Amino acid sequence: MITPARKLLVTGGAGFIGANFILYWMKKYPQDKIVNLDKLTYAGNLENLKEIEKNSNYGFIHGDICDVGTIDEAMQGIDVVVHFAAESHVDRSIKKPSKFIVTNVVGTQMLLNSALRNNVKRFHHISTDEVYGSLELSDTNKFNERTKYNPRSPYSASKAGSDHLVRAYYETYGLPITITNCSNNFGPYQFPEKFIPLAITNILENKKVPVYGDGLYVRDWLYVVDHCRAIDLVLNKGKIGETYLVGGMTQDISNLEVIKKILKIMNRDESFIEHVKDRPGHDRRYAVDWSKIEKELGWKPLHDFDEWLEKTVEWYKENEKWWRDVKTGAYQKYYKEQYGE
Ligand code: NAD
Ligand code: DAU
Repeated sequence: MITPARKLLVTGGAGFIGANFILYWMKKYPQDKIVNLDKLTYAGNLENLKEIEKNSNYGFIHGDICDVGTIDEAMQGIDVVVHFAAESHVDRSIKKPSKFIVTNVVGTQMLLNSALRNNVKRFHHISTDEVYGSLELSDTNKFNERTKYNPRSPYSASKAGSDHLVRAYYETYGLPITITNCSNNFGPYQFPEKFIPLAITNILENKKVPVYGDGLYVRDWLYVVDHCRAIDLVLNKGKIGETYLVGGMTQDISNLEVIKKILKIMNRDESFIEHVKDRPGHDRRYAVDWSKIEKELGWKPLHDFDEWLEKTVEWYKENEKWWRDVKTGAYQKYYKEQYGE
């Protein structure tokens, strides 16, 4: 149990989940201090944190988790590290894997070293269900904490590498760690390269939505605030050295079904669906058994998928400037490379 008035170092806090986590935490624990260390890659956006950026208990460091000087300085007086910073998009990892290894593997190891040197009380690592590989559509099994690692993309391999290092620092050096492996998050501030915000913003721009292959791929969707609640519980009640899986669904839903729901919410017909070339090595199905965190820590997802998908559509409609700014420049170049003109 961590005592009140803590000082947290959040890495990658200007990204989608990190920013939602900072906003959540500052509201719930206003006595705590947060230092946000972020390199501000294409995915980092300080606009996400506008409402708290002037708070006296919030500070920002523009830096790279691979830079030992920066992280040692950021780690001063820190009680808890919540490590989100990563290259996070599977398609980008297929095109250019090296950066994923540098940030996700080497960067994590450098942070672990620094956390150890600075005697932090907790190092919490944010990871993904993708480290477990792919399930068959016909399979009734779900991933659980005992599932064998079987990453199949450069992204998931790099996250698997980082998970192993985090556990190695616990076993070898006694660093007090916890890990959460969660499923596909959705909600406000998600970069529109990911499926749900890409679909919503394309439709708002009157453009078709690219659906990879047959579209019968299955993901387990988790509203980002439910994910933040899970991290909160693990930080406050989780057992040192443990891994907890976090998922949002009880029933499978395919990408085609997701896009059809979005089209219905947005009053558009299915002519907006465009089947495009499949992702190489595309994982067929993810499904998460989240019974451990439910039984041990009393967590379960509170946000219903349909209701929060609708609210997410509303958010993108109301925050047009945010996503239009994000969709310019470097992202347009990436979009052309990924999907053609
Ligand atoms: P994101 O891509 O939106 O944000 C990543 C953030 O990390 C950005 O702000 C970026 O600037 C920062 N960053 C990248 N490289 C950095 C570096 N070298 N040094 C410092 N900062 C750096 O990612 P996200 O979707 O918010 O994901 C956050 C974490 O959650 C990642 O570790 C990801 O693997 C994990 N995760 C994400 C999902 C999801 O559905 N989005 C699901 C499971 C796990
Ligand atoms: O499972 C957790 C993971 O979820 C996280 O670890 C990753 O950081 C995050 O990016 C996400 O990975 P996915 O590859 O599942 O998410 P993405 O949004 O890229 O794709 C979701 C599904 O939609 C997947 O089956 C691929 C498909 N897709 C995606 C895009 C971008 C399409 O059909 N068309 C698209 O244009």
